[in-house]
Amino acid sequence: MLEIKNLIKKYGKFTALDNLNLEINKGEIFGFVGPNGAGKTTTMRIIAGLLKANSGIVNVDGVDARTNPKGLKNKIGYMPDFFGVYDNLKALEYMEFYASIYGIVGNKARQLCLELMDLVRLSDHTENYVDEMSRGMKQRLCLARSLVHDPELLILDEPASGLDPRARFEMKEILRELHNKGKTILISSHILPELAQLCSSIGVIEKGRMVVCGTVEEILSAKAAASPIIMKFTEGQDKAVEVLKQNNLVQNIVIRDNSVSILFKGSETEVAGILAAMIQNGAMLSSFTREESSLESLFMQITTKEE
Ligand SMILES: Nc1ncnc2c1ncn2[C@@H]1O[C@H](COP(=O)(O)OP(=O)(O)OP(=O)(O)O)[C@@H](O)[C@H]1O
Ligand SMILES: [Mg+2]
Repeated sequence: MLEIKNLIKKYGKFTALDNLNLEINKGEIFGFVGPNGAGKTTTMRIIAGLLKANSGIVNVDGVDARTNPKGLKNKIGYMPDFFGVYDNLKALEYMEFYASIYGIVGNKARQLCLELMDLVRLSDHTENYVDEMSRGMKQRLCLARSLVHDPELLILDEPASGLDPRARFEMKEILRELHNKGKTILISSHILPELAQLCSSIGVIEKGRMVVCGTVEEILSAKAAASPIIMKFTEGQDKAVEVLKQNNLVQNIVIRDNSVSILFKGSETEVAGILAAMIQNGAMLSSFTREESSLESLFMQITTKEE
């Protein structure tokens, strides 16, 4: 559905996107995560056709962004990370204004806009002035606006930022509904656990490069491999440490008074093997746990590697 290859974007001498690659399949909700300034908005603006890349390929459902920018715009709904000024428009008027940009007018426009406002739970607020709406309502209106031309791909730049937990929950529910209607969604956020609940795949961007990309399951299993194993012994800790030192799948042994923690780069079967070896060697093991590391901590590990 969306293919990005070797995308490069420079602002003057500064390279904001450095050979970025990204692929999203039809019907996916893809989470785009990265620290401030990583290049998320830049990437999204390029996909939406609002910004020109220096080089690279952006292809949406067979439409090349460079040769057919108009075709691209029909396929994409873009929700920016900021709100403009609304010049005293009421919510429904605002929606109808956007529909008219796409040539939808009159009764047809009214009908469509009411349906979309219903979808984003704004049916009771059609006559509210946009400027007087709460942030959560504005964000939902903005989402409804991005849907007027029935795009296949939605590009949502931090749609849940600045929302309270309830409003975030509502936004998530609406996105699930859109996903069920067959939309492909690219969504950016800093809130990684939230994306993990919502998305099928996740890409982590840092300094304009994709550092990790895969299904949520793949990323979670990479996380498990990066989580330390902590062991406690009632007797024979030194004997256990002997065994650990001889195993080259064991990295980084940390010995504390009453526990030993290791990083282990092996399969579950290999974990079982090393456990058996320690016990055979006379260690009395009383506890064996993987440190609970959140997706958040994986994110921290990945994104601070270079610093
Ligand atoms: N118009 C511009 N001129 C110069 N530099 C820019 C411009 N827009 C963005 N940048 C720089 O490019 C980098 C990427 O910015 P971008 O807004 O894409 O990051 P982001 O991942 O969306 O960050 P955030 O999480 O804060 O929204 C940043 O270092 C930013 O300062
Ligand atoms: Mg941004």
